[in-house]
Amino acid sequence: MVDEIQKILEYAKNAPSGDNSQPWRFKILKNSLEIFVVPTADNPILNYNLRGSLIAHGAILENIFLSAAKHGFGVEMKLNNDYLQNNKIASLVFAKDTLSTNPLATAIPNRSTNRTKYSTRSLDRAEITDFQKLSVSPAEVKILNTPEKIQRLAENLSLAEYVFLRTQKLHKLLFDDLVWSKEEELQKKRGLYVATLELTPPALMVMRMARNWTLMRVFRKIGLPSVVASENARVYASSGAIGAIIVPNENTNFISAGRTLERIWLHATNIDMGLQPLNGIVFLGMSKKTLATVLSPEDKKVVEEGLRIIYEEFAVGHNKTIATVFRVGQIIKAPSAHSSKGELVDLMI
Ligand SMILES: Cc1cc2nc3c(=O)[nH]c(=O)nc-3n(C[C@H](O)[C@H](O)[C@H](O)COP(=O)(O)O)c2cc1C
Repeated sequence: MVDEIQKILEYAKNAPSGDNSQPWRFKILKNSLEIFVVPTADNPILNYNLRGSLIAHGAILENIFLSAAKHGFGVEMKLNNDYLQNNKIASLVFAKDTLSTNPLATAIPNRSTNRTKYSTRSLDRAEITDFQKLSVSPAEVKILNTPEKIQRLAENLSLAEYVFLRTQKLHKLLFDDLVWSKEEELQKKRGLYVATLELTPPALMVMRMARNWTLMRVFRKIGLPSVVASENARVYASSGAIGAIIVPNENTNFISAGRTLERIWLHATNIDMGLQPLNGIVFLGMSKKTLATVLSPEDKKVVEEGLRIIYEEFAVGHNKTIATVFRVGQIIKAPSAHSSKGELVDLMI
């Protein structure tokens, strides 16, 4: 059984995580598996109560369920509500079951983040319903597909890049996670690989220079943060829809949000659609304390107003919160590069 759980994990580990942080560790015990979070893997500024890491865990859990069924196993899961005390996310018990291959399972190795421009053909009602049907309770999926709404959301979502490049702590966070060369990427197998960002050669050159905060301050004076934000807004608006996964505002619901995101992403992969999560502003806004201590009063207002518009567009109900936002659309160009995933032996405890 240990060998089979290893095979299931080997297949499942191509899961998304913030900046490819892969914040998971595994412990195999005969016919069961314990999953732990690495609390330092994601930066705390963007990881209120480890909620970003929980979304990543939801995604890998979904991959494990799909992969187990493909290998002829059923899984019983027990989530651990005390994960902030002991880092344990879930225990899974595997039992022999009938073999079944969900089409979502076959997409697991092919899924990746696509940050290119997509076709602007709006998703139609049937395509939207197919995505919404994949939600895992209590997560709910709202998808907006009119050009006006996509444009308004794209502009407000790109405010994340605007404040990231204006704030020293966020600038450090962004640049610390970047991986600049193929060699470094293959060696680390984690971090945000620059080649996946789809930057034009001049943008890449500016980005290299902007690593230095002193230079970035000069760039800030001449308006670089606004230029980057409006360029990104153009890319985000080149989509067939922008969706949000909304949950009642409690930590463990972020696992259901991650499971939902992964199911949507795998389905998108199967129908040749690209997907990119756009979470900077939503994650920044999760903690009032972060907003008040990290941002200048002026930028705090910018983020709060952006969030107000995003929440208004998605008509988020009382006591509910947006766990993740994503853009989706018909692919015009495949991603220029892919992010590697860590070796299984290094993920075991
Ligand atoms: C919780 C979460 C948040 C993410 N936020 C963003 C984001 O704001 N912008 C973005 O371009 N990608 C985002 N991503 C995508 C990750 O950067 C990506 O999954 C990771 O680098 C691994 O690459 P892959 O998806 O191609 O396997 C996010 C992924 C997760 C799971």
